Amino acid sequence: MGAKKRVGILTAGGDSPGLNAAIRGFGKAARGTHDMEIIGFRDGIRGLAENRWQTLDSDALSGILTVGGTILGTSRDKVHKMMVDGEPRDMIPTITENFEKNKLDALVCIGGGGTAKNANRLRQAGLPVLHLPKTIDNDIAHTDTSFGFSTALGIATDAIDRLHSTAHSHHRVIIAEIMGHKAGWLALGSGIAGGADIILIPEIPYSIDSIADSIKKRAESGRSFSVIAIAEGARDVEDTKDLDAAVALVKSADNATAKAAAKQHKASVEASHRDNAFKVASSLEEATGLESRVTILGYVQRGGTPDANDRLLGTLLGSAGADLVARGEYGFTVASQAGEAVPVPLEDVAGNLKTVPVDHPWIAAARHVGTGFGD
Ligand code: F6P
Repeated sequence: MGAKKRVGILTAGGDSPGLNAAIRGFGKAARGTHDMEIIGFRDGIRGLAENRWQTLDSDALSGILTVGGTILGTSRDKVHKMMVDGEPRDMIPTITENFEKNKLDALVCIGGGGTAKNANRLRQAGLPVLHLPKTIDNDIAHTDTSFGFSTALGIATDAIDRLHSTAHSHHRVIIAEIMGHKAGWLALGSGIAGGADIILIPEIPYSIDSIADSIKKRAESGRSFSVIAIAEGARDVEDTKDLDAAVALVKSADNATAKAAAKQHKASVEASHRDNAFKVASSLEEATGLESRVTILGYVQRGGTPDANDRLLGTLLGSAGADLVARGEYGFTVASQAGEAVPVPLEDVAGNLKTVPVDHPWIAAARHVGTGFGD
C-alpha cells in the first residue's frame, strides 16, 4: 500500500449555493472511498497564498450539505497578481512552496471562470490541479450547468412572480435587475419561468424605442403593467458599440503601457453602464407615461440553502473529482455533460466564457410565447 494521498481544496470567487455540497461530495468520497487526507484552504486563493488551512475530517464534512455559502470562506484574488501591501504580486512561487510544505498530492479549486483561470495558471506552473465549476451565472464553457445556477434561478423566478402582482396592482412597469454581467442565462431563465414580458440580456443589445413600443401595445390591449427582467450586463445598441470598441482596443494594444491604458478605458466604459436598469426605467416612464420602478435582486440570489439540483450536482462533480485524484488525473475541469461528470482540459475552459447563443432554444421559445427582447 502506498502512502495516503493528501489533497488541498478551496472555494474561490463569488459564493454560490452548492459549494458545501461539492466540498462534502469531494471530501467524503476522497476520505471514505479512497482513504485520502483532506485539508481546506481558508478564503480561496488568499488562504492558499498565506498558507491558512484547516483539516477537513469527518466532523467538518458532516451537516453541511444543506448549508448556503462556503464553510471555507472565499475571495476574488488572482494567483499571478494578488494585492499585497497595496501592490499586485505574483503569488505562484509562494503557492508552489505552500503546496510542497503541506506535502500535497493535488489541489482542487472550486469556483467560476476566474477560478478556472487561476487553476490553469497553477497547472501551467506544474501543480496537479482540478477545477469544479460553480457559479450562479452558468457561464463556464463546456459544462451544461454549474452548481448555484439552479438555486439562483428559483430565487429570481420567485422574485419575478412576486413583482407581477405589485406591477399589476399599480399599473406600473417593474424592472427586476438580475445578476450576470457578461452572460444572460439567469435573467433569461428566470424571465421565461417567471413570465417576464421583456427580457434584456448582454447578448442581445436593446433599444428603448422597441421596449416602449411593446409596453404601449400591451397597454392598448388592456394590460397596463409590464415586468422586465434585465441582466446586470444588458446594454442598449449604442452602449454595446462603445464596449465592443473598448474591448477591441484592449485586444489591439501592442505594448504593456497601451494595454494598461486600454484596460482602464474599458473599465470606465463598463462602470458608466452600471446603472442601466435605472436608465431604462426613467426612459420608459418618459416614453410610455407609466410609472416605472427598479428592484435589484442582488445578493439574495446567491444566498441561502441550495436546492435539490445544486446539492445533486455538487455531490456528483465533487465525488467524480475524488475519483480523478485517486487515478492521478489532473489538469481538468470536472464538467457536467448530459448528466455525467466529464473531465475537460482546463486550457479549453479557462478564459472561455459560455454566453447565451442568440439562436438558443430558450430564446426561440420565449419569442414564441410573445416575450420581447428589446431588439
Ligand atoms: O459570482 C458571480 C456574480 O454573482 C455575478 O453574477 C455578479 O455580477 C458578481 O458575482 C458580483 O460580484 P461581487 O460578489 O464581487 O459583488
